[in-house]
Amino acid sequence: MAAKQDQIMTERASFLVVGGDSLVGGGLLQALEHRGQTAYASTRRRETVDDHRVFLDFESDTPYIAPRDVGYAYIVAAATNYDRCEKDPLAHKINVELTPNLIVSLLEQGVFVTFISTNSVFGGERPWPHEDDPHTPGIAYARQKHDAERVVLEKARQLGAEQSLNIVRLTKILDRNTSPLPAWFSAWQRGEVIEPFSDLIFAPMSVQFVGEALATIGERRISGNLHLSGAENVSYVAFAKALAAKIGIGADLLAPSTATGKGIHIAFKPTYSGLGMQRTTALTGVRPQTLSEVVSDLLSPT
Ligand SMILES: NC(=O)c1ccc[n+]([C@@H]2O[C@H](COP(=O)([O-])OP(=O)(O)OC[C@H]3O[C@@H](n4cnc5c(N)ncnc54)[C@H](OP(=O)(O)O)[C@@H]3O)[C@@H](O)[C@H]2O)c1
Repeated sequence: MAAKQDQIMTERASFLVVGGDSLVGGGLLQALEHRGQTAYASTRRRETVDDHRVFLDFESDTPYIAPRDVGYAYIVAAATNYDRCEKDPLAHKINVELTPNLIVSLLEQGVFVTFISTNSVFGGERPWPHEDDPHTPGIAYARQKHDAERVVLEKARQLGAEQSLNIVRLTKILDRNTSPLPAWFSAWQRGEVIEPFSDLIFAPMSVQFVGEALATIGERRISGNLHLSGAENVSYVAFAKALAAKIGIGADLLAPSTATGKGIHIAFKPTYSGLGMQRTTALTGVRPQTLSEVVSDLLSPT
């Protein structure tokens, strides 16, 4: 039995990243490549399809069949815009119906699946929620991810495929192009002041960290609920200070402000953003990413 399982894993050793053009998908593909893994990226851009870029659109009526050598799929793609999730019925359909349908189909094809979810399912009022804690989603995006998690888990149970599924919730992910970083960098280059918000809290991680951690989870085929998180809940002011200090920018180019004071509506404004990673660390060895590691990754040459 174990020998048969090993044979299946060798024959189907490739990975599929659904949503290869996304921020997280890009980081994950890079990590898998560095590790010498074979990985396919899915795209909705037909003109970019090649040997390792496969076409996949949740909205297509054609059932999706994974390449024969794929044994593990990461479902990274989603309708991610908060405002769109509030207003567009198609976003709800993509997140709560079409994504779970794809996951069920992949499980039926014998593929191990990671479904990427979010810290926002916990609502943001409880510090460091654990992997199996109850949810209290507020905004539409969070409710949709919560509903999708429930549907996927229920269907996996019905199929007897619970051991071939994990749900990985993430906190905020940054690369150099994530807003507001490009605006901050150009302001500092011009010697101008930036005005980060003190009333917006997050627990940031770098895209490099998330890519590596997801690759580890996939290689080890760990089932159940898992978390990847920054190690600290920080305001954008604290984050900007850490970034400025590392680059050597003086405190005079940093003027704290508030989103409230500027009349900017922010849909998800958690008191606590970070996720507890106790189970994840015990099973994978991956620890929450410290703020100083996030800053180093952001400033490292690409
Ligand atoms: N970014 C974060 O800080 C963060 C935090 C927590 C959780 N997450 C979760 O992590 C995942 C990735 O987030 P991200 O920020 O990297 O995403 P993103 O950059 O916004 O990209 C979303 C991806 O989904 C694809 N997509 C959307 N609708 C689709 C459809 N109908 N069929 C096929 N593909 C479709 C898009 O394809 P196109 O490229 O063709 O548009 C795009 O590649 C999401 O599940 C998100 O909820 C992200």
